[in-house]
Amino acid sequence: QWTTASIVDDQVARIRAQIGDGHAICGLSGGVDSAVAAALVQRAIGDRLTCVFVDHGLLRAGERAQVERDFVAATGVNLVTVDARQRFLSALAGVTDPEEKRKIIGREFIRVFEQAARDLKAKGEAEFLVQGTLYPDVVESGGGTGTSNIKSHHNVGGLPEDLRFSLVEPLRLLFKDEVRRVGLELGLPETIVHRQPFPGPGLAIRIIGEVTAGRLETLRAADAIAREELSAAGLDSDIWQCPVVLLADVRSVGVQGDGRTYGHPVVLRPVSSEDAMTADWTRLPYDVLERISTRITNEVADVNRVVLDVTSKPPGTIEWE
Ligand code: XMP
Repeated sequence: QWTTASIVDDQVARIRAQIGDGHAICGLSGGVDSAVAAALVQRAIGDRLTCVFVDHGLLRAGERAQVERDFVAATGVNLVTVDARQRFLSALAGVTDPEEKRKIIGREFIRVFEQAARDLKAKGEAEFLVQGTLYPDVVESGGGTGTSNIKSHHNVGGLPEDLRFSLVEPLRLLFKDEVRRVGLELGLPETIVHRQPFPGPGLAIRIIGEVTAGRLETLRAADAIAREELSAAGLDSDIWQCPVVLLADVRSVGVQGDGRTYGHPVVLRPVSSEDAMTADWTRLPYDVLERISTRITNEVADVNRVVLDVTSKPPGTIEWE
């Protein structure tokens, strides 16, 4: 019978056997899987692990701090943050097509991460690449939710010659709930271990229209309010996730104070799901919806309307792009 503690001990022993006195690198996405994989490897080889966090500027409020402050405090891991916000904004300028956004973000992410890996490798500080691949990913590779978006690219064969790594995949035999238990066993904060799914391309696919710095700021503020109110109402474990979407290319007329406004709508997309393959819209209490709506329209400049998405999946997807 496997207990969580024995899974940890077993994995730590295996990682030590695989890496020996070598060095490893791990990309952190802010999600559960990469965090737990990194924490396991850190437990096994200590400061011979370096984590790399690419800030693409498409994260929600507080997510960078969660990695830089909370994850580092919990694990003591070596962390390199690459600030690539401007690079991603430039690459996304003028782009409105959802698939094109995803492709650009995936491509830029790989380039930034590879450069960081190349730098560490040149210093002799990375021969192994840690990935948070889970058992379901192994069985049916391709359909990941919330995992690192470098996954399909960083397999050993697909990399340039100077960037070949041996893979370390300590979560290969685990399901998501086991990964969360291992994370707690390793002392990771609840906010990381129980984080709801968040797409790799981040807020870029929740802005309908071109992604700009100002629009990101608007969406980030609205999203933070929705998350705050849902948490305060104790609803985090009742919903699978609640994307907040900015209809940046739509304007509607409103009235606020004694003036006419002409602002953007924000969509709340609370969903209930088991595995994200199908989903139902969550019947949130009206008083919670009201608080979110009032606060967003009062506190977020440029947003004068909050609407609720009542579409299940299918026919809708969870995200709008
Ligand atoms: P959809 O919109 O396809 O989303 O119903 C299903 C689940 O997947 C998440 N999602 C992504 N996760 N990279 C990710 O890591 C992505 O590009 C991506 N797109 C969607 C979404 O948040 C939901 O949980």
